[in-house]
Amino acid sequence: MNQSMDPCERLPLRDNLRGLKPYGAPQLDVPNMLNVNENTHPLPVEVRDSIAEDVRAAAANLNRYPDREFSELRERLAGYLGHNLTAANIWAGNGSNEVLQHILQAFGGPGRSAMGFPPTYSMYPLLAAGTDTEYIKGVRADDFELSAESAAQQVREAQPNIVFLCSPNNPTGTALGLDVIKAVYDAGEASNAIIIVDEAYAEFSHVGTPSALTLLEGRERLIVSRTMSKAFALAGARLGYMAAAPSVADAMRLVRLPYHLSAVTQATANAALKHVDALLANVEDIKMQRDRIVDELKRMGLQPASSDSNFVFFGGLENPALVWQELLNRGVLIRDVGIPGHLRVTAGTEAETTAFLTGLEEILEKSQSDAAPIE
Ligand SMILES: Cc1ncc(COP(=O)(O)O)c(C=O)c1O
Repeated sequence: MNQSMDPCERLPLRDNLRGLKPYGAPQLDVPNMLNVNENTHPLPVEVRDSIAEDVRAAAANLNRYPDREFSELRERLAGYLGHNLTAANIWAGNGSNEVLQHILQAFGGPGRSAMGFPPTYSMYPLLAAGTDTEYIKGVRADDFELSAESAAQQVREAQPNIVFLCSPNNPTGTALGLDVIKAVYDAGEASNAIIIVDEAYAEFSHVGTPSALTLLEGRERLIVSRTMSKAFALAGARLGYMAAAPSVADAMRLVRLPYHLSAVTQATANAALKHVDALLANVEDIKMQRDRIVDELKRMGLQPASSDSNFVFFGGLENPALVWQELLNRGVLIRDVGIPGHLRVTAGTEAETTAFLTGLEEILEKSQSDAAPIE
């Protein structure tokens, strides 16, 4: 065997994993981390205390496996979502990434396909590859919008087994109208497609933006996925969940690993859910910073997309890679999502947002003066 070869070439890796890059947004130790759409506001002290207390109590039983059905957590999540949902409608995993993986394990697989509409969440193709599901790339309009007619037409043509609709969409930030979701659901009838609406950022939407939760009734193939990582400021705890028909939640039981949600995770999430109002208190502040970013970027002559999430996608940059690096040099880490002329920034605390805006303005002014003809 040739030891100088790339280890992935030497190893008996599945063909559809060869050449893929793992998910890997930079994790750098800088003062302003605005690159992975975390909630940059720390948990309120009362929530931290409550979590610590409940995790301590759970530690007394760590010799036993946790509640495999995470019944209390499913009830609390159903209560939080409302819309007449009960525990039977809820499924959860270690982050919504795991929930999405469960869905692909149950409904995708060899000989099956999943369709997404790039630019969208970068994990969809990786989750598809990991489950040997073909990933079909749909297309959006030049302004990254997705109309009901276009999406439905593409689903009718491709006949996928699974469709990912991300709303608000990562990285563009904009929410889909319910007309798009309904049209895609109806178009998926022919291939009996599971339609996933990934609402990881739903709590940051503008007032009046409806959730796909309102469409669940009577639509057995529809799944709405959510997470506690963003609005709830619990990315480190790893708790994502979905709402769907009880039959869909039952299908997830076929593919989950036994006891996949640890007693520590369940205690943490349950404790946090006793403080929903305190947890969500920072959402309004983050939305304010998000809107401030949009206004300021417009003033700087850039083109920010309208955002229903805790981040802003913006275009109009001549050299995004250089701007990204210059911001990093100033201690501000944002995300280059690989789309020409564009970058994405997470709305932070007021101070973090100021660091980003001030840094960016400086960089833009410097590049203008560098480019100015010498008189
Ligand atoms: C659109 C979208 N969905 C799902 C996730 C996964 O989040 P988590 O696994 O933390 O719930 C993310 C994370 O950034 C995301 O942007």
